Parts: sequence; structure tokens; C-alpha cells
Amino acid sequence: MVKRITSAIRIKLRVSIVLVMAVLAMPAAGDSGIDLHWLWDDRCADCHGHAGDFSRKFLSVSGDRLQGRHNVNDLHRFLRNHYLAGNQVDAVYNMLLAQANNQARFKGECASCHDTVTRFVKHSLELRDGVLFSRNSGRPVSDFLGHHRKLNPDDVKFFTDVLTRVAREVYRP
Ligand code: HEC
Ligand code: HEC
Repeated sequence: MVKRITSAIRIKLRVSIVLVMAVLAMPAAGDSGIDLHWLWDDRCADCHGHAGDFSRKFLSVSGDRLQGRHNVNDLHRFLRNHYLAGNQVDAVYNMLLAQANNQARFKGECASCHDTVTRFVKHSLELRDGVLFSRNSGRPVSDFLGHHRKLNPDDVKFFTDVLTRVAREVYRP
């Protein structure tokens, strides 16, 4: 009897440990604010590879609309029936649109020292009231970039915008 009770407790303990580990493995935010880069890696990357490369290679922008190679007229509707649900559809659509609109300049000009843009943002930068700051120095990124790598004012704006957009995709409200 005692043996049966202890083994029941042991099984329950094991189940709780597995549950706790599953919760810890999930990103911190709830479903509405799920990190889009985590979501892509978890649910899309096996078939489509890296998100930025995929959107720049296979998608295009016409006016303010994103078009696929096959799904030209309503990519938004296609995505609703393709591994995404609820508010993730808009969020992923907007991420792909922004990527398709942008050349991969971070990859070409910054990644050799800073790794991928997503990893750099997660590791080094944070948003405070919508403004991007260095975690380390507490300085606004736009100030810092004015004295980094001889970037001109247009470049500073370009890279501040790219990094801020990626931070919004990672740290969603
Ligand atoms: C199991 C493989 C698989 C997974 C997982 C997957 N896709 Fe796809 N996806 C495909 C295939 C195959 C097509 C081509 C179908 C077509 O164009 O009709 C496609 C097409 C697309 C297209 C349109 C391309 C075009 O040219 O019209 C987009 C955008 C897209 N997927 C996004 C995503 C996103 C976002 C996710 C994750 C939430 C995802 N896919 C997950 C296999 C996958
Ligand atoms: C040759 C290497 C190199 C390249 C290329 C480079 N950086 Fe840096 N970057 C650094 C180093 C080293 C630091 C940290 C030291 C410092 O304060 O300068 C840094 C710091 C930063 C920071 C502040 C990070 C923090 O934790 O405070 C930002 C933002 C940044 N870089 C953005 C960029 C962008 C955007 C590009 C591409 C246009 C770029 N970097 C290209 C080497 C590089």
C-alpha cells in the first residue's frame, strides 16, 4: 500500500517536472505577444529556412501589399490557412512585408561582428517606451550609431529603424 502511494507520488512528481520544463521552454510572453522570430524558427523554418532570406527571395511588394509567387492576390488569406492563427497572421504578414521591403544590409555590413540581427537584438538591445537602448551602456542606439562605423545620418536612421522593428517583433506587447 505504502509502496503504491509512493510510486503514485513519484509519477505525479515526474509529470509536474515535465510540465514545468515545458512551460520554461516557452517564450515568456503570452500568445498575443509571442516572439515572432521564435515562432518562425519553431513553426516555419523547417520548410522555409531563414525568414529574411525567404521573404526577399520568394515574396515581393506591390504598392503596400505583399505577394507570393503563387499566392499573388491574397497572401494574407493564404497565411490564415497556413500554420498561423488569430493575431499571428497580421504580425507575421507585417514582418515578412518589412523584410521583403528591405535589403539585407545588416547581414552584409554588421553581422560579421554582431551575429544575426535577431540574436544581436535579443542579446544587446532593449525597448523602453518604443525607443531602442543598449542594454549594456543604457545609451539610445540612434546616438551610439552616429559614432559607429562612420555611418552617415541616412545609415543611422536606416539601421536604427531596422533594429527597432526587429526589437518590436521580438518584444511584442
Ligand atoms: C511542412 C512545410 C511547411 C511549413 C511548416 C510552412 N510552410 Fe509555408 N509553404 C509550404 C509550401 C509547400 C508552400 C507552397 C504552397 C503554395 O505556394 O501554394 C508554402 C508557401 C508559403 C508562402 C507563400 C509563398 C508563395 O509563393 O505564394 C508563405 C508566405 C508561407 N508559406 C509562409 C509560411 C509561414 C509564415 C509558416 C509558419 C507559420 C509556414 N509557411 C510554414 C510549406 C510549409
Ligand atoms: C568590425 C566589427 C563591427 C562591425 C562591422 C559593426 N560593429 Fe557594431 N560594434 C562593434 C563593437 C566592438 C561594439 C562594442 C564596442 C563599442 O562600444 O564600440 C559594437 C557596438 C554596437 C552597438 C551597441 C551595442 C551595445 O551593446 O551597446 C550597436 C547598436 C552596433 N554596434 C550596431 C552596429 C551596426 C548597425 C553595424 C552595421 C552597420 C555594426 N554595428 C557593425 C563592432 C562592429
